[in-house]
Amino acid sequence: MSAMNDTSMNTNMHAAFKREIRRIQSGLAKADLASSSARANLVRRYDFFSETLHHHHEGEDTYLFERVKPKADPSEVAILDQMEAEHGELLEILTTVDTGFKTLSDATDKVVLNDQLEALFTVLSQHCEHEETQGIQVVQRYITQEDMKEFMKFNREGEHANFVLPWICDGAQPAVSSQVWGMIPGPVRLFLKPTMTRKYDAFSKECGI
Ligand SMILES: [Fe+2]
Ligand SMILES: [Fe+2]
Repeated sequence: MSAMNDTSMNTNMHAAFKREIRRIQSGLAKADLASSSARANLVRRYDFFSETLHHHHEGEDTYLFERVKPKADPSEVAILDQMEAEHGELLEILTTVDTGFKTLSDATDKVVLNDQLEALFTVLSQHCEHEETQGIQVVQRYITQEDMKEFMKFNREGEHANFVLPWICDGAQPAVSSQVWGMIPGPVRLFLKPTMTRKYDAFSKECGI
């Protein structure tokens, strides 16, 4: 039995990242970039997305792919190398979009920034599919309980870790929400689910997206 017997969290997070790019694109289309508060709200939402995506990749690179590589056979190592190379490609396009939001102003060309978000969506979608169909299976085969523990700890230490679970559920099917909250033991969930959801909803409302 694998130390990672359930890969749904990875898949559900990928879907949330893709929904979030669409959310930001629609926020960008509606935003009045001449308004400093509208720009600040959009940037706040984008920063949440970007930091969460950077953190997701850093966690996979450090605690999953690199840890299982010494145990994998050559064809599996090739898959893990592809995962890391795709993260490199993603970093490039994500850095471009990061710069676009860091320098957001009333002179920003919305069409250019939207096209960059679209390119990120395409590269991210291809990587997620590849990871879900090939990469994660290699990780599952060799990951140890200790590596999983460290990976989970790293995830809990993310800057926006408190928003992540309600955010994954935002726009997802009810079955996904049950799966996500089902990972937390009942008594803890009773307290955490409403608290985290309330904070995430307030954040979404403040960002206006
Ligand atoms: Fe992933
Ligand atoms: Fe990945």
